[in-house]
Amino acid sequence: MKSYIIQGGNALNGEVNISGSKNASLPIIASSILNGDITRLYNVPKIHDTQITLEILKILGCKIRVNSGKIEINSKNINKIEIPEDLMRQMRSTVVLAGAILGRFKEVKFSYPGGCEIGARPIDLHLAAFRKLGIEVEENCGFIHCKCDKIVGTNINLDFPSVGATENIILATVLAEGTTVINNAAMEPEIVDLANCLTKMGAKIYGAGTNSIKIIGVEKLKGAGYKVMPDRIEAGTFLCAAAVTSGNVKVNNIVISDLIPVIHKLEEAGCKIYEGKNYIQIRGPKKLKAIEIKTMPYPGFPTDLQQIFGAMLTTAKGTSVIIENIFENRYKYTSELVRLGAKITVEGKMAVIEGKRKITGATVKSYDLRGGAALVIAALAVKGKTKIDNIEYIFRGYENFDQKLKGLGANIKKVGD
Ligand code: EPZ
Repeated sequence: MKSYIIQGGNALNGEVNISGSKNASLPIIASSILNGDITRLYNVPKIHDTQITLEILKILGCKIRVNSGKIEINSKNINKIEIPEDLMRQMRSTVVLAGAILGRFKEVKFSYPGGCEIGARPIDLHLAAFRKLGIEVEENCGFIHCKCDKIVGTNINLDFPSVGATENIILATVLAEGTTVINNAAMEPEIVDLANCLTKMGAKIYGAGTNSIKIIGVEKLKGAGYKVMPDRIEAGTFLCAAAVTSGNVKVNNIVISDLIPVIHKLEEAGCKIYEGKNYIQIRGPKKLKAIEIKTMPYPGFPTDLQQIFGAMLTTAKGTSVIIENIFENRYKYTSELVRLGAKITVEGKMAVIEGKRKITGATVKSYDLRGGAALVIAALAVKGKTKIDNIEYIFRGYENFDQKLKGLGANIKKVGD
């Protein structure tokens, strides 16, 4: 088990470059299965989740070459349609591979991805959509077998604008017969990135980024090159790191329009923000002000920054309120913040954070990716030493996290086996 030792209290200053988006890279890597050709991807972050996904593609029969920031995937000789259970269980988001394998081979076998620390995370919307497309879905003992002679486009209405379900339907229908329309589709920027990449391969997708997406099935897709969008959640994490340490940081390689709700909330909390073309200069105040946050599907406030904002607000002046509307169990990190001296009460969807003059160092534990990053944010504000265990969770979604923080003047070091 690896840990971070953080000596907090330094104001972060300088510049940081944001990596490619984890949540865009995963479905885009999956999309390379569809063309049976060579796909060249750029700006894919080297993190646990992308490495696992590439590992699965190799096991399915893809040839993968990685050199200096470019990933080349040749999916011509895929000879398996089963996603390995052990890797599937390590990372639920591999479920989008199912849509891609189905889209090309009309059959896929995978194990139920199961829940994780932030909630049950079912895939009922994915499976209902597959059935609507004429795909036979058999579920038993935690295994799922999907099969059909052909995929026939149709209208699909999502009960909830699920990101993964929207991605899976797109991946399963770009080679379908006829047209598919997804109503109540997710509108996240990562969906637009996936659609842009598939369009470069020859797919016909209209309306990505809106709540109604039309996919006109085509015969075949070809190889393409694509650069993945910047990671808006990593960007938000570094903006909060600057805010909580009264720092002055330039966050490079970002898309401002992806961060509008986050920028507004940081300004409400007292930060000074200058928006450049593809960067933000942020100056944190001496003391942050308490704010209210409600997580919503895009373009609302992103649930993935809920924990990170919660940590940042532990030392704000006043009482902050957070309402988590997307996941049913995304407050586990608060018990660890209380060990640092934070004053937080959680009641169902709501967390009430009473700002404290200061919080103290302690040993705390990550339980999930963003919860782990939240503990780092809190530790940066502590005038003292904090040890954070189980930081392997953080490596799932942040590339060179401690090196980037060190580059801004943070006193952070990685220890352990
Ligand atoms: C994606 O997860 C992201 N992961 C999550 O980021 C993000 O928090 C989430 O979208 C919401 O924005 C990736 O893109 C790899 P959902 P996903 O389907 O697709 C319920 C991170 O930290 N639901 O939009 O799993 C579900 O339980 C991760 O980077 C169903 O009920 O999210 C949840 O409560 C965490 N049935 C809500 O919808 C379904 O079939 C949102 O889930 C599917 C989802």
